[in-house]
Amino acid sequence: MTIQWFPGHMAKARRQVTEKLKLIDIVYELVDARIPQSSRNPMIDEIIVNKPRIVLLNKVDKADPRVTQQWLDYYKEQGIYALAIDAQAGKGMKQIVSSSKELLQEKFDRMRAKGVKKPRAIRAMIVGIPNVGKSTLINRLASKKIAKTGDRPGVTQAQQWIKVGNELELLDTPGILWPKFEDETVGYKLATTGAIKDTILNMQDVAVYALRFLSSHYPEQLKQRYDLNEIPEDIVELFDAIGARRGCLMGGGMVDYDKTAELVLREIRTDKIGTFTFDNPNEAEQQL
Ligand code: G4P
Repeated sequence: MTIQWFPGHMAKARRQVTEKLKLIDIVYELVDARIPQSSRNPMIDEIIVNKPRIVLLNKVDKADPRVTQQWLDYYKEQGIYALAIDAQAGKGMKQIVSSSKELLQEKFDRMRAKGVKKPRAIRAMIVGIPNVGKSTLINRLASKKIAKTGDRPGVTQAQQWIKVGNELELLDTPGILWPKFEDETVGYKLATTGAIKDTILNMQDVAVYALRFLSSHYPEQLKQRYDLNEIPEDIVELFDAIGARRGCLMGGGMVDYDKTAELVLREIRTDKIGTFTFDNPNEAEQQL
């Protein structure tokens, strides 16, 4: 479910995350590996302040492996723990636990030094914008199906801890944060990957963005999928070529641009054209 975020929602969501932070040792910041920058909440650093954090690049199966590696290198350079995971297939789950232990080693050593003989389990929570895979990850780590709580920022629930082996406890409700809508390109990237609802932005505009991006970054995959010898520079010609080849036509044989836009976006989201990453670490505008 994608919700519309209003200032009141944002304030409430932030308050709820801040409340939960008191209960935990570590934050798992879940982002979409296809758009690690655009799918993170711009205020996350301010919100989690000094809590240890691991950035989890989820849906890595849908991202460009070469750029995923660049992102991992980038985080490493910044001194930030980051892991590439596929919550749907359960890949990377063990590393989440081992990295958490590594990151909290000092804190738990200090507890031991103060005489705590058997330190408690590490307490963690997942935060992220809607659709990045928070529920999927919770279910994976819990190894059982937990009911989806929905992305309503106003909803408060009793907290419960999910045991992940003996060493980790996870809050059963994730912290839901808002994406940064005001930036047009970020909006297009979120829409291209399906993170925001199709009704929020004009589908043709989103498809124009996506096709331009693929034309410049992944031309071979685009040519192959739509059987193009060359990619026309003119975006209307590109729509015409794809629409005609795929039979997205109106009466009279004219290409239907809405249908073509829908088709292209559906095929990008279902990885029919290839696996892509739309954010580049070299262009990461914000300090992490
Ligand atoms: P949220 O709680 O953060 O809102 O996200 P949620 O877990 O509901 O996941 C959103 C969508 O992303 C779901 O697909 C889910 O299956 C998919 N997903 C989550 N993690 C991964 C991953 O690592 N790889 C891939 N390929 N997909 C992932 P959906 O189509 O919305 O629904 P459904 O598949 O559950 O029917």
